[in-house]
Amino acid sequence: MAAAVNTPLPIVVLISGRGSNLQSIIDAIAAGELPVEIRAVISNRPDAQGLQRAARASIATRVVDHRQYPERMAFDAALQAAIDDYRPQLVVLAGFMRILTPALVQHYRGRMINIHPSLLPEFPGLNTHQRVLDAGRKETGATIHFVTEETDGGPAILQARVAVLTGDDADSLAARVLEQEHRVYPVVIRWYAEGRVQLDPQGQVRFDHDVLERPLRLSSESGAPC
Ligand code: GAR
Repeated sequence: MAAAVNTPLPIVVLISGRGSNLQSIIDAIAAGELPVEIRAVISNRPDAQGLQRAARASIATRVVDHRQYPERMAFDAALQAAIDDYRPQLVVLAGFMRILTPALVQHYRGRMINIHPSLLPEFPGLNTHQRVLDAGRKETGATIHFVTEETDGGPAILQARVAVLTGDDADSLAARVLEQEHRVYPVVIRWYAEGRVQLDPQGQVRFDHDVLERPLRLSSESGAPC
């Protein structure tokens, strides 16, 4: 659903750790580039550094500690209740490292997006950069996608590509991919807030009403979608 002009889209951001993608969203809002309001940042880890970033920006924070819930269903029910307290129109996963149950994913169908540091569908899951290097890939990147029941597997909206360089290790590659993540995540959230990107009932991504046959990229010169 398109947000009314001048009304910031209410979002909730889910994190598990450092929160550098969260910071890029906070910074884009502060720069006037992103018409959204972060109603809350929710972490499954009480020590997540991103909680301090949120507090510094005067954003409400909440911890739903997965270790307090022996059952995944109970954790997800508590998480869903916490998210819904803030009535977001979009839930943004920014380094949230828990697998979500189908019930929760269905509840937010078309209203939950994730960023993953690979060119999905390749290399979902953990230790992405080392696996890219071990596989001898010359190119990697980041993907922003709608969340579905398949972990790191929902329909892709946008990909940023990053060359693998001779001498790269997992850390150097992660750092260059992260730079691109910080560039593209606020852009996709802005498109969503402007009503330009949607998940249709058939499970296809639509951008400016057209079905995306493949994920968008951003032109490096103009920053326009291509
Ligand atoms: C990011 O690289 C993000 O793409 C990745 O975790 C990192 C979080 O960094 N997410 C996943 O791997 C999800 N499967 P951050 O906490 O500094 O934003």
